[in-house]
Amino acid sequence: MGKYIIKGGKRLKGEVVVNGSKNAVLPILSASLINSRESVLTNCPDITDVSVTCEILKSLGCTVKRDGKVLTVNSSGISNVLVPKDMAEKMRSSILFLGVLLGKFGSVSINKPGGCAIGKRPVDIHLDALKALGAEISETDTTIECTAKELMGTDIYLPFASVGATENTMLAAVFAKGQTIIHNAAREPEIWALQEYMKTIGVTVRGAGTPTVFISGCKKYSDAEIDIISDRIEAGTYLTAAAMTKGEVFLKNINWTYMCKTLELMTEFGCEIKVQKDSIYLKAPKKTKSLNLIRTGVYPSFATDMQPIIMSLLTTSSGTSIIIEQMFENRFSHADELNKMGAKISAQTRVAIIEGVKQLKGAEVNATDLRAGAALIVAGLGAKGTTIVNNADFVRRGYENIEKNLHGLGAEIKFCDGEN
Ligand code: UD1
Repeated sequence: MGKYIIKGGKRLKGEVVVNGSKNAVLPILSASLINSRESVLTNCPDITDVSVTCEILKSLGCTVKRDGKVLTVNSSGISNVLVPKDMAEKMRSSILFLGVLLGKFGSVSINKPGGCAIGKRPVDIHLDALKALGAEISETDTTIECTAKELMGTDIYLPFASVGATENTMLAAVFAKGQTIIHNAAREPEIWALQEYMKTIGVTVRGAGTPTVFISGCKKYSDAEIDIISDRIEAGTYLTAAAMTKGEVFLKNINWTYMCKTLELMTEFGCEIKVQKDSIYLKAPKKTKSLNLIRTGVYPSFATDMQPIIMSLLTTSSGTSIIIEQMFENRFSHADELNKMGAKISAQTRVAIIEGVKQLKGAEVNATDLRAGAALIVAGLGAKGTTIVNNADFVRRGYENIEKNLHGLGAEIKFCDGEN
């Protein structure tokens, strides 16, 4: 699983070029099956979630080539509609193959997805939306089978603005007869990015970024070339790392408008922030301030994926802060690990109280999921002494070259491959 070894206490200073967004590229890779043609994705991050998705595409009969940051998928040769079990179980976003395969081939069988252990994460909203389009669905404990003679466009009301359910419904609705209107759609920038890709291949779709998305299929598909939007969570991680070490950082290749809430929080911490069109500068104060009460929520509220990372910074901010986790029911596993480093956190299911301490101490800790791992790295950068973050593979699912980028900012961090 590998580990990161961090010698903390170095003030970070310098520049980072933010990579393409994991959560934007994954649904676009599923969408690349739609056109049976070529899709060229630039600014594509080289992370393991992308590699696993590319393996799924290859197993379905697509050709996939990477040249640096450019990924080219050709879906003209799809010969198989079975997503391999081990790959589906590896990552939750494999569920995004459900809608597109159902729409394109009229039937699909897929293993229930895996992914981060941050809660139950059911897929009922996805399945109800596909049923509304006309799918018949049968489930076992481990598999989902969907069939449909013909999908029919309709009004779909999502009971919760689920990101994945919005994307899956958009992908299936391309193949439906007539217009589909998704009400209470998720509004994340990554949904907008999916819409932009779909428009490029010829799909009639509008409304992404608002709660109502309209999809009316496609008359003629085209090849696509699209730049993947930058990763707002990766960007937020580097901002927090700089703040944790009382440092300063200049982020390039980032649209700051995707991360207004994180920037607002950074200002409340006492950081100085300057933004330009594609960049963010942050300079941290000598001591960050606590945040009183913050709640995670759907975009544009405080992103649940930033919650563990922000919690790390709160551990050494002056005063007491409270975090309410509203999105997932099991997303405080990092709190116990931070406590091993001297943090004072009392976490229940949905509420964590963080009492700021003077400084964290290096310790051996375990990443339990992707963002928890990033949070522990951030904590280790600010801690006195050496921190070992085990289970580095979780981090590599979503961060390209995190050790190289942090090293470039002056951190002492190395990645060790192999067994813990
Ligand atoms: C996506 C992101 C993930 C982020 C999350 C919330 C990707 C690949 N992943 O995950 O990084 O943390 O959005 O911003 O984009 N739910 C149900 N039934 C469903 C679907 C969801 O109950 O059918 C619940 C989930 O259990 C969870 C909440 O809704 O509690 C949010 O989930 P959702 O928005 O669907 O997140 P994902 O698409 O899985």
